[in-house]
Parts: sequence; C-alpha cells; structure tokens
Amino acid sequence: MIDVAEIHPRGAMAKNQFEPLAQEIFTLKKQLNAVILAHNYQVPEIQDVADFVGDSLGLAQQAAQTSAEVIVFCGVHFMAETAKILNPNKIVVLPDRDAGCSLEESCPAPELAKLQATNPNFWTIAYINCSAAVKALCDVIVTSGNAEKIVNAAPKDRDLLFVPDENLGQWVMEQTGRPMTLWKGNCYAHVEFQRERVLAAKRQFPDAKIVVHPESLREVRELADSVCSTEKMITYCRTNPAKRFVIVTESGIIHRMQRECPDKEFLCAPVFNAMKLPTDGCRCSECKYMKLNTLEKVRNCMKKLTPRVELPADIRQRARLPIERMLEISAR
Ligand code: 13P
Ligand code: SF4
Repeated sequence: MIDVAEIHPRGAMAKNQFEPLAQEIFTLKKQLNAVILAHNYQVPEIQDVADFVGDSLGLAQQAAQTSAEVIVFCGVHFMAETAKILNPNKIVVLPDRDAGCSLEESCPAPELAKLQATNPNFWTIAYINCSAAVKALCDVIVTSGNAEKIVNAAPKDRDLLFVPDENLGQWVMEQTGRPMTLWKGNCYAHVEFQRERVLAAKRQFPDAKIVVHPESLREVRELADSVCSTEKMITYCRTNPAKRFVIVTESGIIHRMQRECPDKEFLCAPVFNAMKLPTDGCRCSECKYMKLNTLEKVRNCMKKLTPRVELPADIRQRARLPIERMLEISAR
C-alpha cells in the first residue's frame, strides 16, 4: 500500500492531457470529503489521482479505517462491495458498474450453498474475489496477500472448502500442507500466462527475477522466484538487488513498479513484441474489467454520485463478520 500523496505531490504532477480532469477530481474530492482508493491494476492516470493505491488487502484495510464520507473505489465491483460492507453509512461509488470479475461470476451463492449442504463439517474460506452474497455464506475471507496466514489459522478439526479460485487454492495448499476442497473457478486473465512464454523470457534474460501472481497456473508458478500478491510483488522488486524482473500479472502494476524503482527494468509477461522478445502476435495481459474504469468515469461518478453500491442489510451484516475476521487475523 502506498500513499501516493507522499511520493507524488499534486503540485509536482506533470502537466499532461489528464491534468484538467485530474484538477476537477481534486476539487470534487474536497467538496465531497471523498477518498479515492485504487487497485494496482488501474490505468496510470487513475493511480495518479488516488489517495491510496494497493492490493485487495490494503484497500480493504484502508476502507475499514477511512473517515471520508464518500469512497470512490477504482477497482472492480467486489472490491467496492467490500468497502460498502465495512461502511454501511457511507456512500460508495465505482466508476463503472460493469467492472466485474471472472472469479466472482464462477461462484453463484445458491451453488455454493448446495455444496456446503453436502458436508456440515465444511469451514468455508472465500477469496475476496467473490460477491457479497458468497461472502455472507463464508467463515473467513482471504486475499492473495494473507491467504497462507489465514489458512494456517483455520480450525484443525474442520474440512476446509476454498472458493472460488482453484489456482490460488492449490498454491495455498502447497504452502500450508492443509488439504482443501477447491471450487473450480479461475481468473480468466491470469490463466492466459503460458509456461513456454515465461521460459522464453528466462532464456532471453537469465539475470531477471520471475515474479508470479498466485492466480496463475501451477506450471507457471513453478518457474517463479517469488509468488505473491500485487503489493508484495512491488515490495519484492523494490528490495531485491536484481535489476530486471519479469512480471506475471496484469500489466497495470508496471506503472507503480517503474515509479518506485526507476533504475530497474520490468518486463511484462507475455509481452513478446513490445519487450524485445520474439514477435508472435502475443500481447500483454490486461483485465478487461479493471480496464473499464477511465479517469473520465471517475470524474463522472463523483459528480453524479452514481453508480452507487447498495446491498440488502441481511447480506451486508452476514458478510461483515468473515471480512472482520480476516482483518483481525491479518493484523496479528
Ligand atoms: P491482489 O490482491 O494481489 O492485488 O489481487 C487482486 C486481483 O484481482 C488479482 O487478479
Ligand atoms: Fe478478476 Fe482476474 Fe480481473 Fe483480478 S484480474 S479482477 S481476478 S478477472
């Protein structure tokens, strides 16, 4: 998590095409007493107007402690829902209502309830990338930044059910040695990363460290020097003495990496043509949902205070407990 204001003072902001919109947003922010939270995958111009940029865990922690009256959530819908669950009396807006997530879509609450009914000894752990209705059915929430810690703290006498990301679930099982029943969901963007592409990057840049998000396939994770959440990726690159890194996650993260480590080189896997690797029509990985948000839509949602996140009170109340449990275990 980074406080952008600390390293990117508004006054020093480069005059660019986004400057007029950015100025409008700063004015609205003051008028509304709003806080702008942005995920590491957001486009650079959104990251540059945000008060905080971070991973899902950092954003949930910020949402839990903000004193702002309006939360402008620049990420995807389940993240904004989490902020609303933690702040039922605040206004939570997101720039584009359609910013969903393939993991969230893969796990409808009624299907999960059916599976839970097959084993009363299940203790359900949900990756934060799921709907509020699914969170309401779970015992604890995890993010990629704290999943290992939380699974290690899970009751030993219960059968663990992990939803909805089978790749993250597999990785957590490898780290903790705890068997879990895995829901068959995945991130459509991360499963596109291919082992051969990462191997080609390793061959071409033998000095580079390979940094992989745990939503990726096992065959890709196996090639990693580090497997971690987006925030931990940034810390890893900042603190590791290597000068070159192959980043296996959504390309939006490169903006922060380059800003925080200007003397290092980041190769966005599998960008083969733009990054001097063999040209074969390959492109860099972008989450189509994260990229629905634009700076103009940020301004518009602040002006109109819509689209707003609203949730039925019973779901909101039931979903709050597993999120608070996550925040409490994370802070230990
Ligand atoms: P992080 O919590 O690591 O930022 O991941 C969020 C996400 O959606 C990854 O695809
Ligand atoms: Fe969901 Fe994948 Fe996009 Fe993250 S990158 S929001 S997991 S679809």
